[in-house]
Amino acid sequence: MIPLSVPNLTGNEKKYLIDCIDSTFVSSVGEYVNRFESMTAEATGSRYAVATSSGTTGIHAALTAAGVTYGDLVVIPTFTFIASANSVKHCGADPYLMDISADSWCLSPEAVRDNLAKKCRRENGMLVHAETGRRIAALMPVYTLGNIPDMEAFREIADEYTLPLIVDAACAAGATYKGGNIGPLADVSILSFNGNKTITCGGGGAAVGNDEKLLGHIRHLTTTARVWPDYDFDEAGFNYRMTNIQAAVGCAQMENLGPFVKTKRRIRTYYEERLSALKEVGISFFPTTPGSSCWFSGIVLPEGTDFSYTKKLCADLKDKGIEAKTFWKPVHLQKPYAGAPCEDVRTAEGLWQRLIALPCSTGISDEELETVSRTVTALLA
Ligand SMILES: Cc1ncc(COP(=O)(O)O)c(C=O)c1O
Repeated sequence: MIPLSVPNLTGNEKKYLIDCIDSTFVSSVGEYVNRFESMTAEATGSRYAVATSSGTTGIHAALTAAGVTYGDLVVIPTFTFIASANSVKHCGADPYLMDISADSWCLSPEAVRDNLAKKCRRENGMLVHAETGRRIAALMPVYTLGNIPDMEAFREIADEYTLPLIVDAACAAGATYKGGNIGPLADVSILSFNGNKTITCGGGGAAVGNDEKLLGHIRHLTTTARVWPDYDFDEAGFNYRMTNIQAAVGCAQMENLGPFVKTKRRIRTYYEERLSALKEVGISFFPTTPGSSCWFSGIVLPEGTDFSYTKKLCADLKDKGIEAKTFWKPVHLQKPYAGAPCEDVRTAEGLWQRLIALPCSTGISDEELETVSRTVTALLA
């Protein structure tokens, strides 16, 4: 079976893990955690990085530190992994779901601008969703597939309404924007180092940014809000810190971030070039923005394709030894968010049933890429 996306542990992972275990520092204090934070800050061009137990916990801590609380709404795209919405929900808030741009699959700044202007009002210095009377507490675009949307537009909207700009950058390790790093683009961005990401800690995440106070608060919250040296705590904090074991793997992975992202981009280009004949039967490809980390690659079936056909194709590929999968089902169609405020999301609606993610591990061989391409072509051409 050619897997969809599996970790590539061919570097110093074992060496650092043995060192970590020998040191007995296996928990959330240790040199590897500090080193991983420095490496993550540098890789994203950020002044500060806080390592967390997962991307989800990182987002939850970041939203909490940004003041998101009970009854609030946070603007997110409906086309995202459910963890973006769950992190909002864990603050006692709800996602305010909006559409994506067709060219990046990221939250559409035009949709956000339009909806905030038409569906919200300013009240006592706050932005309030008119229909529900709930406060809009933050703006959280998602770097879908490692694509970066028009961040100047989001900065403008955030400034206009005085909203914190938080980014779910779970898939974006290694991405760049206009030749620069992603760290400075938002107040805080959260990466994931889950097993299917370009680099992994087994599980893990990191919040990055340049705002000392905000990132300091996130650090405090993720470490139980303890006030040293005694057992005093000044907030209801979380136990969300990354462990030294996770960070040992993470440091070895970070050493290979550059080559791994290069491979991800090459896989994306390979499929588009090798499968270009499929354009004649209405098939297109997962989009990229300049500097995208190309976390996942895949194909988009023609408009109007039924989800059952997409699933059947995935099953047929599996029968032929290729792990291919459908992709994110939008949040507004998920049971826990059926009642969440949701605007016109027709781009996401028209897209998600037609997506097939193709094998894109950084360790994939040219032979395997060719096998996938040949098999996909045989099924679709
Ligand atoms: C867009 C997005 N947000 C959040 C997450 C959550 O990250 P984690 O699995 O590290 O909690 C993921 C990946 O799992 C993701 O793809």
